[in-house]
Amino acid sequence: MTSPALFDRRLIFVLGKGGVGKSVVAAALGTAWARAGQRVVIAEVANQHRLSDLFATRRVPRNTPTELATRLYGYSVDVDKATEEYLASHIRVRPLVDLLVRSRAFHNFAAAAPGLPELVTLGKVWELAVAVEDGRPVWDKVIVDCPATGHGIALLQTAGNVSELAAQGPVREQAHRIEEVVKHPGATGIAIVARPEELPVSEAIDAVATLRADNFPVAATIMNGMTPRRFWAEDASVLGRVESDDPAIDEAVRAALRSDHHARIEHEHLRELTVGTYTSPIVVPDLGPIVIGQSELSILADALDGTARTAHPAARP
Ligand SMILES: Nc1ncnc2c1ncn2[C@@H]1O[C@H](COP(=O)(O)OP(=O)(O)OP(=O)(O)O)[C@@H](O)[C@H]1O
Ligand SMILES: [Mg+2]
Repeated sequence: MTSPALFDRRLIFVLGKGGVGKSVVAAALGTAWARAGQRVVIAEVANQHRLSDLFATRRVPRNTPTELATRLYGYSVDVDKATEEYLASHIRVRPLVDLLVRSRAFHNFAAAAPGLPELVTLGKVWELAVAVEDGRPVWDKVIVDCPATGHGIALLQTAGNVSELAAQGPVREQAHRIEEVVKHPGATGIAIVARPEELPVSEAIDAVATLRADNFPVAATIMNGMTPRRFWAEDASVLGRVESDDPAIDEAVRAALRSDHHARIEHEHLRELTVGTYTSPIVVPDLGPIVIGQSELSILADALDGTARTAHPAARP
């Protein structure tokens, strides 16, 4: 694995700007680990339903681990159901819970209560991470496909906020237990995904700084969608000197130079991410304008576990 730090963790949060490829990276990480023999579950939160598209399966039902591929499962957190379970575990009078859950006022309250949806979501993820059967963990890896950066960070911070603000009692204790796992540097790793563009990179740099300042274990940065560099610097300069009377050759040379220019800009963004986060980002290639399914995930998994043959040369060896 390119990043042993990420490979060692049991609970992995995949975070990043909207649309950078969090769901694809979460699915590719799951694919890499499952084929290495680990039992993996990918948790979808905040009503996302990307796993069923990526693995061409029926929609993952809520709150039930569902097999997507060998040793790889999907899990969709249903916040309403989780809130009901949460209440039932704290209010021991079942009819009262039923009454509450049936009332519209309760649903309005639950949606508006600061941090409650995040806390129950994180509680479900935590349950997956600490689940034990016959003395051993049920899941070797729990991967969380987080909502986009701001909401993703809020999700991670929620247990800490509740354990700080809640009055002494079971809610505070539970929030504290969740916070301990989410911030555990040996058990948990946060992977920040970016694309080689200005905004996703600056958002990733800010997210890493915010999370580190709050003692969250940032384990890796991942640059998704890099165009492979096809030319060495010397080759590009040779191309730049081509003189031809044939318009087809001219056009081909211009296309090659454009592609090289684009790749150089992307590498500049990769350098910014490296310098701005003090990490060595894992590079995941752009597969082009195709619909991503299981065979594409397998190619991306190669990049994530370091078995890919794609090179990103900076200089001729
Ligand atoms: N390496 C890649 N090569 C080619 N296409 C990619 C790659 N990674 C992601 N994509 C495509 O980019 C789009 C966004 O990816 P994805 O849905 O994983 O992003 P996301 O960060 O989870 O988005 P959201 O914030 O909406 O949840 C999808 O169409 C996906 O197929
Ligand atoms: Mg997504």
